[in-house]
Amino acid sequence: MTVSVVAPLLRGIALAAAGPGGSVVVASAPLPPVLPADAVRIDIADDDEAAAFTALRAAYSRRAAGAPALFAANLAGAGEFLLAAASDIDAARVLVAGGAVPSAGRAPAPAEADSKGSAAGRDRVVSGRIALVTGGAQGFGEEIARGLAASGALVWVADINGDGARRLAAELTAKAGRTAAIAVAMDVTSEESVADAISEIARTTGGLDLVVSNAGVLKAGSVLDQELGAFDSVTRVNYTGFFLVAKHAANLMRRQRLGHPGHRTDIVQINSKSGLAGSNRNGAYAGSKFGGIGLVQSFALELVEYGIKVNAICPGNFLDGPLWSDQEKGLFVQYLRTGKVPGAKTIADVRAFYEAKVPMGRGCEGPDVMRAIYYLVEQEYETGQALPVTGGQVMLT
Ligand SMILES: NC(=O)c1ccc[n+]([C@@H]2O[C@H](COP(=O)([O-])OP(=O)(O)OC[C@H]3O[C@@H](n4cnc5c(N)ncnc54)[C@H](O)[C@@H]3O)[C@@H](O)[C@H]2O)c1
Repeated sequence: MTVSVVAPLLRGIALAAAGPGGSVVVASAPLPPVLPADAVRIDIADDDEAAAFTALRAAYSRRAAGAPALFAANLAGAGEFLLAAASDIDAARVLVAGGAVPSAGRAPAPAEADSKGSAAGRDRVVSGRIALVTGGAQGFGEEIARGLAASGALVWVADINGDGARRLAAELTAKAGRTAAIAVAMDVTSEESVADAISEIARTTGGLDLVVSNAGVLKAGSVLDQELGAFDSVTRVNYTGFFLVAKHAANLMRRQRLGHPGHRTDIVQINSKSGLAGSNRNGAYAGSKFGGIGLVQSFALELVEYGIKVNAICPGNFLDGPLWSDQEKGLFVQYLRTGKVPGAKTIADVRAFYEAKVPMGRGCEGPDVMRAIYYLVEQEYETGQALPVTGGQVMLT
């Protein structure tokens, strides 16, 4: 029995005790030489999840009135660990380090003032929640990580670019004056990498309330000559990567819900307008995104049993993001060089061409996507949908 299985079970039990809207983070650490006086001892003798859950629930209710939720768990085959449940990660870390925190923990973090990517009033739906953003180091992922952190969530910034993820997480934490973000290295195309990252999340924060599967790549190419390798690599990140993230995250979310069957969680795939309408000379990308909608609908049907909603957001072009605006390899420079936009002589001409395709006259931005995320999390009666955020460029039929 591993800590990454036990910690989510404990989080669910503590969430149920915290009541509606309560937030709970579970932190774990190897057992220290001297056990904190408040720690409740618990033995988990075998690899049976149901038996572990029953033992944990009994231990949780055995605590003295007002005592912190602190457990010294002996896990068969894995060793001894200290686990603590508290209302935020900083309080939980103090408890496992042997310090004292008021038993109720701190109040859930309020939404913070500088909320670049938030939408006034909506952001409370993620305050105090634990979120994962894949591909979170730059572009839309960075915008989403910033928006969620500014709204009071604890954000796991997962990216193949570990340095970028660490830089962003450190910045968000420094700005918030609390642990607002934690970086984790993750290559969404590798099952081992995804499984390791999700285990680290389970051990460190006990669970997840919101998964934003955002990592994605674009390699444009004609069906007449695109190399199979390029086609496969796009499919592997955008399509298979979403499957791997959903698979491992959903198991964690299912486990944490055992103790709190009313707990609702969300998986949101950042899809694209190219998941709703074909994209000329860009079939690998559009195909992977259309496939993503099929996965969203299918996962939604299956995971509804575990209180997990699964939806996609289909943004229009993020013209101010690095994919388009990078001065060396961005799409504006590429399209100018290759003459893709007839008559365009400058980057401004290329940009104007793409803006003119949007009825609302501008590219999609971080706050547009954040509003869609808040809506999907807040909405209790929808799953399996693909929500366009395209300024009217693509309309549902
Ligand atoms: N930029 C747009 O105009 C646009 C429009 C609609 C949808 N989207 C979608 O938004 C998402 C983000 O796109 P973006 O434009 O911000 O891209 P981006 O290239 O700016 O950022 C993508 C991030 O994903 C990371 N990444 C790439 N491969 C990864 C892997 N295997 N594992 C983990 N991380 C990986 C990168 O390191 C990077 O930090 C994608 O799914 C994309 O399809 C983008």
